[in-house]
Amino acid sequence: MTDALSKALSEVIDPATGHSLGAAGRVGGLDLRDGVATIVLRPGPQGEDITALRAAVASALEGREGVTRTRVIIETQLSGGAKPKPKPAAPARAPARRIIAVASGKGGVGKSTVAANLAGACVKLGLKTGLMDADIYGPSAPRIFGLSDAPGLRKTDAGIEPLEAHGVKLVSMGFLVGERDPVVWRGPMVTGAIRQFLNEVNWGDLDVLIIDMPPGTGDAQLAIAQGTPISGVVIVSTPQTLALDDARKAVALFDRTEIPILGIIENMSFFLCPPCGEGTEIFGRGGARAEADLIGGPFLGEIPLHPELREASDAGRLVASGDGPVAKAFLRAAEAMLLNVDAAHRPAPDIVFVS
Ligand SMILES: Nc1ncnc2c1ncn2[C@@H]1O[C@H](COP(=O)(O)OP(=O)(O)OP(=O)(O)O)[C@@H](O)[C@H]1O
Ligand SMILES: [Mg+2]
Repeated sequence: MTDALSKALSEVIDPATGHSLGAAGRVGGLDLRDGVATIVLRPGPQGEDITALRAAVASALEGREGVTRTRVIIETQLSGGAKPKPKPAAPARAPARRIIAVASGKGGVGKSTVAANLAGACVKLGLKTGLMDADIYGPSAPRIFGLSDAPGLRKTDAGIEPLEAHGVKLVSMGFLVGERDPVVWRGPMVTGAIRQFLNEVNWGDLDVLIIDMPPGTGDAQLAIAQGTPISGVVIVSTPQTLALDDARKAVALFDRTEIPILGIIENMSFFLCPPCGEGTEIFGRGGARAEADLIGGPFLGEIPLHPELREASDAGRLVASGDGPVAKAFLRAAEAMLLNVDAAHRPAPDIVFVS
């Protein structure tokens, strides 16, 4: 990135205050990668019009020196005390070609199960796949991947070595602390752990890194949304209205950071009776599809409620590695997710006006 780009950014006039971003000390970071300039700004006046600010930044930078698109991220005060230090907008090298966060507003809707099985489906599709368990307080990956008794992570000259199971490279706080040890950390420490997982793990040359997000919209979400070159987010929801309300909050968080929503997966969509193969719609199927329409996000598919999924998770097997109906549902959802992530990052065609 050139000084000219930084200079142009610092000269952008904030429509809310009439001062330049540079003079107001708001520029926190600038990173240019594949034509996308990611700009991190320190928080401005309460209730500022972020849309107008984004437009001002876009009009100043887009079209300059390799910038096809701008992405403006406003730093948010992390809870738990200290203000985050100004940080680079993105790690020195991205750990994977595609980084996909699997999130939900509500806990217990099956994010970890879906994230693990999407990773398994990606392996089946021939992709080099990693999974980062970002649930620092309640990690699930060790159990789901059958690594509860695995030795901790090793550090070599190349970085922290991920573990591997079912063809997926894995990192989880669960590999650092025992499954029953409670983790009590302050917000900034959570942020630090997540950054380390992203930047200091020897992920190798991954095609896709899936991030299993913790429930809610707290420090970990902010750390990931603000400091990671995320390609997109998959939202998991059950068909119930309550879970959908929370999914809406999760969508809003990622919307604010301009990370593309790759789609919604409806988990526990219907009960698939193991002996008869019949589906029963316990929670009222189709809510997530309707929600996807409402927020203008794609619908990626339905995962049935199936006892095999819970049994497999508890036994460290991955259903997606097999070839039953549930494995097929995950495969279809993974294909749709990959299609959308690649579409979201293809450069937009030039528009030529012919008069
Ligand atoms: N489609 C499904 N069919 C049957 N059981 C499921 C299904 N999806 C998830 N489960 C089970 O539901 C429980 C909760 O799932 P999981 O841990 O994946 O949820 P989560 O959203 O990651 O939870 P948390 O918010 O605590 O991180 C687990 O026991 C899991 O095996
Ligand atoms: Mg989980």
